[in-house]
This record gives sequence, structure tokens and C-alpha cells, in this order.
Amino acid sequence: MDNSANQILQLILQKYHMNLLAYDEDYLMKTIHKRMAFLQYKSFDEYLLEITYNQGEVHTLSDALNINYSQFFREQQGFFALEQVVMPSLFSQNKNNREIRIWSVGCSTGQEAYSVAILLHHYSVLTGKKFRYRIFASDISISSLEYAKRGIYNEHEVESIRYEFIKKYFVKIENTYHILQEIKDHITFLEYDLLDTKTRIPTESIYGEFDIVLCNNILYYYRDEFQKIIINKLVKSLSPIGFLITTKSEKMIVSKNVELKNINVESSVFRK
Ligand SMILES: C[S@@+](CC[C@H](N)C(=O)[O-])C[C@H]1O[C@@H](n2cnc3c(N)ncnc32)[C@H](O)[C@@H]1O
Repeated sequence: MDNSANQILQLILQKYHMNLLAYDEDYLMKTIHKRMAFLQYKSFDEYLLEITYNQGEVHTLSDALNINYSQFFREQQGFFALEQVVMPSLFSQNKNNREIRIWSVGCSTGQEAYSVAILLHHYSVLTGKKFRYRIFASDISISSLEYAKRGIYNEHEVESIRYEFIKKYFVKIENTYHILQEIKDHITFLEYDLLDTKTRIPTESIYGEFDIVLCNNILYYYRDEFQKIIINKLVKSLSPIGFLITTKSEKMIVSKNVELKNINVESSVFRK
């Protein structure tokens, strides 16, 4: 790692006990440069001084690193595969009608978990099949989880949702869209750090064994060894018939770390 960046990170670790060393180096440097430009600093030494005397800047940097942008049905190919391949496969193999278990890791403000819940509900209506499912949606950010739990979104946030789904699964109150309680009831939001090495899964989910694990827009922020920790954890949490879904841009990160089968060449959906 660049020596000056390393100095900044070591200072943050020692003085403020915050560990930012897991982030991908290029991403870290870009974010530090953005902060320096914003503060009109030209040298790392100036930024180092800012960090030394201003704890607020440490939090601002940490927030800038922890991007929480999300969107309903964000990675279209993933949701398409979920609808066309993953769900039919899971339901045909689930002979005893046990509860389908899903983990949305790094769920941010909830859109990913609600999108999956809507698709499952829709699938149940279309096929006439009744099934039980539970979505565990976890994130490290408490403020994002609070937002997610409310399940209230503005007009701009629901733009990526099919009109049919907006009509069926949201109640419009003035300019806001409230997700139906019936959908919310299937989701448990939990605080959980994917880099926590003491636990394999969020303890509230009790035993893991997830049939679908969604890990979208998280891996590329981390350095190789931390990507590995996360991926190993996710693979271990899969049920024998489970699927791991990631984004196209994170597909290679999964492929190079574990031996999982792609459901087809183009997709970034894996199975054991
Ligand atoms: C860019 S958002 C992606 C949200 C959603 N998965 C999506 O694709 O729209 C990344 C989320 O991952 C969370 N995150 C990052 N590192 C994490 C970690 N170590 N443990 C748990 N969540 C983490 C962040 O707090 C943020 O909410």
C-alpha cells in the first residue's frame, strides 16, 4: 500500500480504533483523494493533520467508503435468473414444502430484500403454489437498517419497479410509497458484519442453510483477502440446493475464490 495512505490508516486505527484496512487499495486512494479535493488539500501531510485533530473527518471518510446506494430490482440479470431459473428449481426440489430461506447480505436500505419478497409473492400467485419463505436481510450500517425497516420510499426510489408491482405491493400516501405489511412480515432485518470472524452467519438466523444468498455490490470494495473471507462464509451458509447470486462485475471475484458452478455462462448466479 502507498506509504502515505498507510500512515493515514494506521493513525485512524491507533487513535480512533477504526479499522479501514480491509478496503480495496485503489478504492481507498480514490476516496481519500476525493476528500482531499473537497477540503482543497494538495498533500497527504495536510490531510494527515486534518485526521489527527478532527475526528469528524474520520467519520466522514468512513461514511464515504461505506457506500449504501441501492435500488429496487437493481441487477436485472440477477432478478431475471431468480425468476426464471432459481425459483422454479428450488420449488421443484423442495418436496416437503419446508420454508425457503434467503439471505440478503449488505441489504442497505432494504430494496434488495423487498424486491425478492415481491418476486416470491408474485411467483406464488402466478403458479398457485403456496409456500413459506423467510428473508434475513443484514447490513453493518444501523442507519441503513432503520430506513429499510420502515419500508417507505419516495417516488424516485420506486421508479425501477414494474407498475404492476407498485400497484399490488405498495400503498401510496401523499408522495411516499409504503410497502405492504404482508410483504414486510417475511423479512427480518439484522445488524451483521460480514467480516466478523467469530460467527458464520447472523446468529438470529439460527442455523444458516440458505437456499438463496444475494451478495450484490459489496465485494469489490474490499481487498482480496477480505473478499475471500466473505465468499467462504457465504458458500458455507448455502443449503445443498442453494444458489449464490452476485452482480456481473463481482462474478470473477467469486469464481477465482471458490469452485461453484455457474447456472449458465453469462450469468453471475452460482450453485453448489
Ligand atoms: C452499495 S450497497 C449495496 C446494497 C444492495 N446489496 C444492492 O446491491 O443494491 C453496499 C452495502 O453493503 C454494506 N456493507 C459493506 N461492508 C459490509 C460488511 N462488512 N458487513 C455487512 N454489510 C456491509 C454497506 O453498509 C452497504 O449498505
